Amino acid sequence: MSCAERGVHGILLAAGRGRRMGGAKHLLPVPRSGGDAPVPMLERVLVQLAAGIARARHDTAGSREVGAPGSPGSGAGEGVTVVLGSPQDRAVELVRCLGARFAIASRSGASSLEGVTGAPAPRSGERPGRASGSQGTSPQRSDSIRAGLMSAPDASGWLFAMCDQPLLTASDYARLLETFARNPEAIVCASYAGTRSTPTLFPCSLRAELLALTGNEGGRVVLARHPERIVRVELDPLRGRDLDTPRDVIGAFGPELGVDLANRPATMRPPMERTLSIIKPDAVGAQNTGSILQAIEGSGLKLVALRMLQLTPEQAGEFYAVHKERPFFKSLCDFMVSGPIVVSVLEGDDAIARYRKLMGATNPEQADPGTLRKQFATDVERNAVHGSDGTDTAAQEISFFFPDLR
Ligand code: CMP
Repeated sequence: MSCAERGVHGILLAAGRGRRMGGAKHLLPVPRSGGDAPVPMLERVLVQLAAGIARARHDTAGSREVGAPGSPGSGAGEGVTVVLGSPQDRAVELVRCLGARFAIASRSGASSLEGVTGAPAPRSGERPGRASGSQGTSPQRSDSIRAGLMSAPDASGWLFAMCDQPLLTASDYARLLETFARNPEAIVCASYAGTRSTPTLFPCSLRAELLALTGNEGGRVVLARHPERIVRVELDPLRGRDLDTPRDVIGAFGPELGVDLANRPATMRPPMERTLSIIKPDAVGAQNTGSILQAIEGSGLKLVALRMLQLTPEQAGEFYAVHKERPFFKSLCDFMVSGPIVVSVLEGDDAIARYRKLMGATNPEQADPGTLRKQFATDVERNAVHGSDGTDTAAQEISFFFPDLR
């Protein structure tokens, strides 16, 4: 059977990067699509994704009940692998109940995989991929992608979805798949009011490139290498709303869900975190420091340390050492030493994810309206602000500028 004749496999990334997901955000109850009783967010997304795949595969639009509760052996999750960051009992139990596979993303480089219905082994001679360079235990983006791909090595393509968009429907997923069926070499991306986003579908010819991603590199890296292959599918921006933190979820679905943010069980509580913020030389020079700090405080994040300084070339090189092999490394360091910067430590529930959301995409052209980069950045390099991208980098970056902070 040729690659193109095999079906598309759904990969639901629920792993995030350890605590970035706000503990077990995907277990927060949300309304069931078309039903009353709340279900965990993971179930809602999984059922819609699997139904979208089934609908596209069998071309039986409308004939399958969507949003029916999962029951053991119901097969509601057929054709989908859920990638988890750790074998959290409740999530694994739920995935089993829905008849999907699950894979555990692991930072060690040997992504472990367990298929509820018997996941296929990796192709012979295939390595699970390189371990990321830095030390740590929480999985990074490339680990999650690798774990998903290893679970279904023979698919004609992989539709990567996340729990961040629980409002998408089976029809949305089916539209992405139908577009792929017409363009089997394309990378199919959901787009909302002209802004490209997730879910994203990669064809089998890009498998090796996806497996070769390292560290925090995600699908965006592969997209950037193949702009000519990108095909967008416009979806309703209201359904594509990115619900990144538990607070967003409650905001979208309302307090009637009965979720008491303050008194949730520990597994559902977002972690109190700290993150490093830098207001870069372009934004300080343009006298946007005050507006940016105001937006940070206005978002509910608390400033716990603040300094203005000018980096030396050695400090800039050390801070951005992770990018030293990138073509933009020298130019980035030159820019970062070109004027004063304002560094601060922000604290709050889910501070890392919340600040990254407030900043917007690295490239301001792709940043959402209202984000700091949309408002204050000039281009992908002169992008106004920096924020840590995980708990381990946050700890390193905070101690780089504030070694005495307790
Ligand atoms: P920051 O969040 O500080 O992390 C790394 C920085 O590298 C990023 O913001 C940008 O300023 C810069 N950067 C990332 N990608 C590119 C690129 N393609 N060209 C130039 N600079 C980039």
